[in-house]
Amino acid sequence: MPLKSSTGAQYARIMSVGGARGSRVVTNDEMCTMIDSSDEWITQRTGIKERRWVAEGEDAETLGLEASRKAIERAGLQPTDVDAIIVSTVSHFMQTPSLAAILAKDLGLDAPAAFDISAACAGFSYGVGVAEGMVRTGSAKHVLVLGVEVLSRYTDMNDRSTAFLFSDGAGAVIVGPSETPALGPTVWGSKPEAHSVIEIDDWRGVEPGSEGPFIHMEGREVFKWATTAIVDKAIETLEASGLTPDDLDCFIPHQANNRITDSMLRHLKLPEDVVVARDIVRMGNSSAASIPLAMEALLESGEAKSGDSALIIGFGAGLVFSGQTLILP
Ligand SMILES: CC(C)(COP(=O)(O)OP(=O)(O)OC[C@H]1O[C@@H](n2cnc3c(N)ncnc32)[C@H](O)[C@@H]1OP(=O)(O)O)[C@@H](O)C(=O)NCCC(=O)NCCS
Repeated sequence: MPLKSSTGAQYARIMSVGGARGSRVVTNDEMCTMIDSSDEWITQRTGIKERRWVAEGEDAETLGLEASRKAIERAGLQPTDVDAIIVSTVSHFMQTPSLAAILAKDLGLDAPAAFDISAACAGFSYGVGVAEGMVRTGSAKHVLVLGVEVLSRYTDMNDRSTAFLFSDGAGAVIVGPSETPALGPTVWGSKPEAHSVIEIDDWRGVEPGSEGPFIHMEGREVFKWATTAIVDKAIETLEASGLTPDDLDCFIPHQANNRITDSMLRHLKLPEDVVVARDIVRMGNSSAASIPLAMEALLESGEAKSGDSALIIGFGAGLVFSGQTLILP
């Protein structure tokens, strides 16, 4: 007897987006009371003017809850309509239960599939790719995809080459069925030989009660990779969707560094009127949360509108990358 297999919607789409930012605003001037640097250096090298860190009482769970509630409500759904939750994070400090399982309880979801993934700054796009497959094969109808990070927890104030970059936030979307194509193919992959270029210390080496673990990064290596190999992957992602640069309304790359975004733009040869996400200026790098937060910001400011096409591309520790071309909710 042949096995039955499931089929779902012909197409998937992003139905909504919701974000949450750590409520403590840390300006470059405040940052420079902690590390030997200057507002001018940080602005020139990265574009960052301020970042958000969690305040007392906030953590990955509270930020994730706020962003997820917004995404569910904006999709016009009840929590019980969500039948899967995927959380991309490196900021959940227990191996199990997953943050997805904890948030499923907090949100009042009804026995959803629930799991976390670890794909660092590419994790949001990884989650969207997995969710699209679930919706189209019928293993879920409405998937909540959340990227959430509390990177201030990993910040080593003695390391002036990383401390000013990272931030705390959450961005969530609902991926659900669509009658028209609204989510292009996922283009993803990794560079396994560069797995140690960005690392968070092994917890087993951290003495109880002491600081850490901390993020370590070979910044120049990441910069080189992002402005060469990842640019090619961004072009491949757009081509895979059947669109050309002239068809594109928005470019929402992972918010790692404005100079990386500028370099990508030069190579992508996007028309002048394509809206480019620059959320990094006020947010720094919030890893898995950066793309959905930047997406929400563009929609809220009116720079982008529902129905616009957008190219997203995430890249980071692993080294891993992932991108899609999609229609904004
Ligand atoms: C981190 C990053 C901003 C550093 O910029 P850079 O131009 O590569 O800087 P370098 O490390 O080459 O250092 C240049 C100089 O600035 C100095 N410097 C480093 N950090 C500094 C700081 N916070 N303030 C002032 N000077 C600093 C260095 O000591 C060095 O001085 P020297 O020329 O006298 O030796 C950049 O490499 C970057 O953004 N990389 C990508 C990182 C990233 O996106 N990571 C996340 C991926 S998801």
